[in-house]
Amino acid sequence: MKKLRVLIVGNGGREHALAWKIAQSTELERLFVAPGNAGTVLWNVPISSNDIPALVEFALQEKIDLTLVGPEDPLSLGIVDAFQAADLRIFGPTQAAAQLEGSKSFAKTIMESAKIPTAEWEIFDDSDQAKAYVRTIGAPCVLKADGLAAGKGVIVAMDLETALQAVDEIMDGGFGSAGKKLVIEEFLEGQEVSLLCFSDGVTACPMVPVQDHKRALEGDLGLNTGGMGTYSPPPIWTAELEASVMKDFVSPTLQVMRERGTPFQGVLFLGLMLTQRGPKILEYNVRFGDPETQVVMKRLKSDLLPILWACTEGRLSEARLEWKEEVAVCVVMAAPGYPLAYEKGVPIHLPELSGQDSVIFHAGTGISEGQLLSTGGRVLGITAEGKTLQQAREKAYELVEKIDFPKAHFRRDIGVKGL
Ligand code: AMP
Ligand code: GLY
Repeated sequence: MKKLRVLIVGNGGREHALAWKIAQSTELERLFVAPGNAGTVLWNVPISSNDIPALVEFALQEKIDLTLVGPEDPLSLGIVDAFQAADLRIFGPTQAAAQLEGSKSFAKTIMESAKIPTAEWEIFDDSDQAKAYVRTIGAPCVLKADGLAAGKGVIVAMDLETALQAVDEIMDGGFGSAGKKLVIEEFLEGQEVSLLCFSDGVTACPMVPVQDHKRALEGDLGLNTGGMGTYSPPPIWTAELEASVMKDFVSPTLQVMRERGTPFQGVLFLGLMLTQRGPKILEYNVRFGDPETQVVMKRLKSDLLPILWACTEGRLSEARLEWKEEVAVCVVMAAPGYPLAYEKGVPIHLPELSGQDSVIFHAGTGISEGQLLSTGGRVLGITAEGKTLQQAREKAYELVEKIDFPKAHFRRDIGVKGL
């Protein structure tokens, strides 16, 4: 394989983790991140991740051999189709395949065709009918904007009043076109696991399992967020469970997508609920998770580039994936106020790191006149590994304490469920 010129699209913690891993590859010639953050400053190019024509032009000009897309928005906007039309190699699903995440109702249709266990659901485009349905099924229930809403378009309503209010919140403009249609779902109880799989359209290889912490506050309280922290592996996950999810969830999904003429190449990410009656799928994502990727990349022993390359060539079955035994934990430090309106421009000072066990992944950060500043909601992902979950947690939180980020919001209970 000739050395590769690689472009990563995105600017979050996930993209910093991918860049950190790819920068260690023996197959790399040169790396670019568009637009990146303060953590990826060595590789940044100032092009927005949704500016597809500019990204295509840059990739042609710089003779990029492989592009890797982090966020869902450019995938839903058709970045893969645009790159392929320009004869550029890109890792990720086409616009048609990305609907698995871009439309909750499309995803539900695929789950039904593939006969994958999921929550009972109905879809509405009229709020009176939606409310009548909420009154018949009662609470708890789950209400979801049909389109993309940055992980915030889901309301888990524990009582009827909240559920009725949620119908208005989602359908009356708060979510724009994403909320024109509303999915109402049965409430499922259990522990959640994120399973990310590499896929070349036919073959899928699971990555290590991860547990995310979606709620803003300790004890899984407060609003849903993009994710406040992760650890891997969650002890609740077993090899038998993985085998059954690969056979009964992942393979049928890939098969249905192929039969529809929209094969899925990229990362197929299953959000699973482990209920008393077995695993059920909550959602598909069509990309690496954030902050799942931070712990997955920390645990990946193999070189990432040959795996991505194999996916784009339909030869994933020949790729080798090796993982570290160590447990990894990522604690997200967010801006004061997140996930509601939050402060920006908070100055941050980071300590020097000693050793390889810990990494500070940047997310919403920038540099202004030499000073590191917060620029987004989720700002840093403090990631550490240890021989046990306890050890990994201790290392991660020790590092959190050393970070000077006034009024940062973070959860102290990341990974506690696994102890
Ligand atoms: P989604 O974007 O569909 O994964 O939903 C975001 C979060 O809402 C999930 O990670 C769950 O924590 C919660 N959630 C979604 N659907 C359900 C459901 N049917 N029952 C219980 N919780 C759910
Ligand atoms: N952490 C969940 C996601 O990336 O969607």
